[in-house]
Amino acid sequence: MLTIDFKNAKLDKNFNDYAADVERCHGYLHDKTGLGNDFVGWVEWPNSYDKEEFDRILALKERLAGKYDTVLVCGIGGSYLGARAALEMIKGLYPDDGVEVIFIGNTFSASYISQVLKHIEDKEVVLNVISKSGTTTETSISFRIFKQWMENRYGADAKNRIIATTDKARGTLKALADKEGYDTYVIPDDIGGRYSVFTAVGLVPLALANVDIKALMDGAKKAYDDFANKDVNENPAYQYAVARRILDDKGYGAEMFVTYHLQLTMIAEWWKQLFGESEGKDGKGILPTSACFSTDLHSLGQFIQEGRKMLYETVFAIDDMGADLVFPSDDENIDNMNYLAGKKLSWVNEMAMEGTLSAHSDVGEVPNIVIHLKDNSAYSFGYMMYFFFKACGMSCYLLGVNPFNQPGVEVYKKKMFKLLGKE
Ligand code: PA5
Repeated sequence: MLTIDFKNAKLDKNFNDYAADVERCHGYLHDKTGLGNDFVGWVEWPNSYDKEEFDRILALKERLAGKYDTVLVCGIGGSYLGARAALEMIKGLYPDDGVEVIFIGNTFSASYISQVLKHIEDKEVVLNVISKSGTTTETSISFRIFKQWMENRYGADAKNRIIATTDKARGTLKALADKEGYDTYVIPDDIGGRYSVFTAVGLVPLALANVDIKALMDGAKKAYDDFANKDVNENPAYQYAVARRILDDKGYGAEMFVTYHLQLTMIAEWWKQLFGESEGKDGKGILPTSACFSTDLHSLGQFIQEGRKMLYETVFAIDDMGADLVFPSDDENIDNMNYLAGKKLSWVNEMAMEGTLSAHSDVGEVPNIVIHLKDNSAYSFGYMMYFFFKACGMSCYLLGVNPFNQPGVEVYKKKMFKLLGKE
């Protein structure tokens, strides 16, 4: 399902050197004894998730079937990135199943919000607002605007088309949802935003967008079983975490997450939040950055190959993306491309990956970790996301930081609120 190749990672230590530390940190995750232990609910979630709520989500999709062609998903950060990453990886960038998902609540840009308002003029819309705190400014601004749009458009029926995902009891969004009579779904107390894709945060929009959420949870459960071993020699998630620590100690301050398909760009964005927000604190952490090849080889390739030796790459390769194309022959061959006639584009992409790996690693001496995932199904998505959760928790605990808080994010909010005149 998922394998990791460390042979070009240039690790100069053995995983076994970290065995005792990994075992200790495994205890932090599984016994809830580490920093931020109030927020490790995601560890057991593939086993313990609320099956009743899960069935309610499936029933919601049934209830709304045929009534919408557009899903507005209003949220930011952990209340947004996981669902978008899943949709694009699983369904591609231009799905043709009659449901368009549009993400709002993740920007103050009036230009973007105006474009969405214009775009949905003739659409049949449902709106899922997602916020654990219920007070996030970007989300609240968009929600008020689109709530009013829904009320103007659907009148009394608007409340049947608005779904709120938030805290089970607290917060202004919960209060508003109860007052208006919206269907509500819960973000558990002990699961933070960036670890929440397997809760209603991810499941509601994904179900509405026709993703098989049962398969997704089955994949997460399989990953739970596969990555529950405290022995680093037997646990690829912990090996990835240790490799990150070894490279960090060697002075590599940046990790570039590399994909080879444009529909995986949001996986990279999700991964950047997961590792950046979890690890970047107390003056520590590896800067998570990303690129999509071969596209970005034509922009960032030069720096990676010959620029400052500050980064390593983690290549996220999906072995079977489903669709393929055979490159056509041309009788005139004026473009001199007939040498590829009859070849599959998946093979061309694979050769690009192999060649780039050799150029960056052998010639440029850039360490490369390669993670292979079998395919882009919902099951594999669930499996892969849980793998990264586990690796991230371990990586942070090995570094000695709390993986589950984000105190630095508050600083910009305070400065902004002062300027906006918020009490
Ligand atoms: O990972 C996180 O905790 C953050 O990215 C939050 O998800 C994000 O700030 C949105 O917060 P909320 O769900 O409270 O609106």
